[in-house]
Amino acid sequence: MIWRATVLTLFPEMFPGPLGHSLAGRGLSQNIWQLNAVNIRDFALDKHKTVDDTCFGGGAGMVLKPDVVHAALQAGLESYQGAQPSILYMTPRGVPLTQNKVHSLVDTNPAGSIILCGRYEGVDDRVIHHWREHHGLQEVSLGDYILSGGEMAALTVIDACVRLLPGIVNTQESLESESFELDLLEFPHYTKPQNWQNQIVPEILLSGDHKKIAAWRHNQAEQITKERRPDLWQAYLNKKHC
Ligand code: ADE
Repeated sequence: MIWRATVLTLFPEMFPGPLGHSLAGRGLSQNIWQLNAVNIRDFALDKHKTVDDTCFGGGAGMVLKPDVVHAALQAGLESYQGAQPSILYMTPRGVPLTQNKVHSLVDTNPAGSIILCGRYEGVDDRVIHHWREHHGLQEVSLGDYILSGGEMAALTVIDACVRLLPGIVNTQESLESESFELDLLEFPHYTKPQNWQNQIVPEILLSGDHKKIAAWRHNQAEQITKERRPDLWQAYLNKKHC
């Protein structure tokens, strides 16, 4: 089964964008994964191709119409021919995306993901409610800031999923060491020259003693996490001691 992303957007020309390059881009041209960028406007019902309307109750901004978004989601789901993709709505109101969540998306729905990108003030809440209740739609956020639409968020989710697919990241080892250290921020990396502007690469990394190097890196990861992310550090300590 080939993992496929179906992106529902008013700006399909934003895709594949950065996903056409680097690891994801190579995987795309090798057919390790597939991408459909679908224009929500194609599902408009009137001759003016209207996709949005003013907000009941007043206020600035336009809201995407439920009938149009519903038709786009339905066509997206039908294109999986009975397989079950995850269905995601990118919104700052969603559950924050984490690496664990990315793993579970790929493991639970190997057919891929349908990703709805909102614009303007968002999408009529009834269509979100319907798809949450009937098809398990999940609202996903990249973090506590507002993007001008869901497209950048969709690009990010897809990139994070695709690099977990077999054949994308060439050494399984790099994924494994990542998941081993997932609870901590990464340790620092260095390459040649050994002396750059009088900053010297730590001697231990040149020792060839792999055990000592691993311990040094682990310690660095702990220190950096403690300093920069007290939330992750506390979660790490709790996990370690239970
Ligand atoms: N759309 C706008 N802002 C977003 C965010 N922070 N995460 C996901 N989708 C968004």
